[in-house]
Amino acid sequence: AGPCDIYSSGGTPCIAAHSTTRALYSAYTGSLYQVKRGSDGATTNIAPLSAGGVANAAAQDTFCAGTTCLISIIYDQSGRGNHLTQAPPGGFNGPEANGADNLASAIGAPVTLNGQKAYGVFVSPGTGYRNNAVSGSATGDAAEGMYAIFDGTHYNGGCCFDYGNAETNSRDTGNGHMEALYFGDNTVWGSGAGSGPWVMADLENGLFSGQGSKNNAGDPSVSYRFLTAVLKGGPNQWSLRGGNAASGSLSTYYSGARPTASGYNPMSKEGAIILGIGGDNSVGAQGTFYEGVMTSGYPSDATENSVQANIVAAKYATTSLNSGSVPTVGSSISLQATTSGYTTRYLAHDGATVNTQVVSSSSSTALKQQASWTVRAGLGNSACFSFESKDTPGSYIRHYDFGLQLKANDGSKQFKEDATFCTQAGINGQGTSIRAWGYPTRYFRHYNNVAYVASNGGVHTFDSATSFNADVTWVISAGFA
Ligand code: AHR
Ligand code: AHR
Ligand code: AHR
Repeated sequence: AGPCDIYSSGGTPCIAAHSTTRALYSAYTGSLYQVKRGSDGATTNIAPLSAGGVANAAAQDTFCAGTTCLISIIYDQSGRGNHLTQAPPGGFNGPEANGADNLASAIGAPVTLNGQKAYGVFVSPGTGYRNNAVSGSATGDAAEGMYAIFDGTHYNGGCCFDYGNAETNSRDTGNGHMEALYFGDNTVWGSGAGSGPWVMADLENGLFSGQGSKNNAGDPSVSYRFLTAVLKGGPNQWSLRGGNAASGSLSTYYSGARPTASGYNPMSKEGAIILGIGGDNSVGAQGTFYEGVMTSGYPSDATENSVQANIVAAKYATTSLNSGSVPTVGSSISLQATTSGYTTRYLAHDGATVNTQVVSSSSSTALKQQASWTVRAGLGNSACFSFESKDTPGSYIRHYDFGLQLKANDGSKQFKEDATFCTQAGINGQGTSIRAWGYPTRYFRHYNNVAYVASNGGVHTFDSATSFNADVTWVISAGFA
C-alpha cells in the first residue's frame, strides 16, 4: 500500500497527493510531475517506473540533456486534479517579471529511494507553487490532516517554507485562515526548544508549536536529513508530529486545544494549497520537499504511524550532488571560458569583483594567482565545493544579489551557503558547469566578462538565454599558480 491507501483505510482519504519522487497510491501509474526545458520551452511528464513505484528520473535526464530544466507542475495523484503550479503574485510579489514566483530546478535535490534515483523539489528563496482552486480541501473549521517529507538540513529563517492549506487569494486575510506545515528557524512568531530548525504550524500571522503563540519547549529542534512532518487540525484540537523519515517512529510534539489567541478557534481555513511560500506569497524561505499529502478528516495517530512505516520502507537516501568529472579537494584549478571568442579568458578576480581575464603562461605572477583557485569542500555542504582565492587565502567566491564576489569567510550560515557550488557535466557538452548549491537554477556565468550566477532566460540581463550554455560551461585544468 502507499501512504494514500493507508489514509483511505483509516477513513481519512487524501484530497491531494504530491510527490516528484514516487507514487503515493500502490496502483498509481499516472504523471508525477512535469519538467520544462530551457532550450526550447518544451515540457514532458515524468511517471513512476511501475505502478506505485519510484519516478523515472532517467526520463528526465534524457529530456534535459544539454540544457536546463525546471519543475513546472507537481501533479495531484488523488484524482481530484489539485496540481501545484507556479505561484502567482499575492500580498508579495515573486521574482519573475509578472510577480510570479520562480520554479524549482529539476536537479537541485537528487536522492535515491530503495536505490533508485529520483529528484525532490529544492526551494530557493523566491520559489513557490500554489493551487488556489482546490477540490475537496478543508474549509472553515473542518478537519484535515497532512504530512510532508523535507530535508531537515535545508532551511532558513525567512517566511515561510510551508506545505498545506492557505488563502485562495494569495493574501493575508487574517488569523486562522491557514493551516500548513512550516519548517525552518524563523523566530518572528513562535519557536521551540533549542535553536531550531523546528516543525511548526503556520495558522496565519503566526507559526505555532503548541497552544501558546510564542515559545513552546515541547517542540524539539529537528534536523534529520529526511524529516517526516505531520500536522492535523479539527474543531478545537490540533496536533504536530515528526520523526526521521529514514527510520523509527513519529513523536508527538503537540496535541491539544487550539491557540487561545484571537482568530484561531474556530478556524477560517480557505482551502488553497501552497508549497515553499507563506499564505500571502512571502517568498523569503528555503527548503526541500520530497512528498506530501492533504487529507479530509482528522487522521488517527495509528494511521499516521502506518504512513511513517511506509515512508521508512521507501528508503530515502542521499546520492551525489555532482556529475561528470569532479574537481579534487585541495587542488589548485583554473577555469577557462568555452564561449567562442572568449576562450583566452579564465575566471579571475580583480579585488572583490569576480570576472574573466585573458591569462596565459606568460602572464604576471599576480594575474596567474588571480586566476587560480583552491578547491575546498563546500563550506555550506561538504558534498559540493567552495573556491578559495590563491592570492587571498580565507577569501572565497560567493554570490550576492546573484553577482559573484570574492569575500572573506565571515563564518555565517548565509556566507557558507552562498559560497557553495555543485558541479555537473558541462551543459554545452564540454567541461564542467558549476551551479549554486542554494540556487540550483543558477550557474557560474560570464556576461560582458563579469561573473554571475545566472539562470537560463531569467529576469536579469545576465540571465540572457543567448549563449547561455557556452557561458556557463568551463574547462577545469591545473591552476596557473
Ligand atoms: O503566519 C506566518 C505568515 O504570516 C504567513 O505565512 C503569511 O501569510 C503572513 O505573512
Ligand atoms: O545572491 C543571491 C542572494 O543575495 C544571496 O543568497 C544573499 O546573500 C544575497 O542577498
Ligand atoms: O562575457 C562575454 C559575453 O558577454 C558573453 O559570452 C555574452 O553572453 C555576453 O554578451
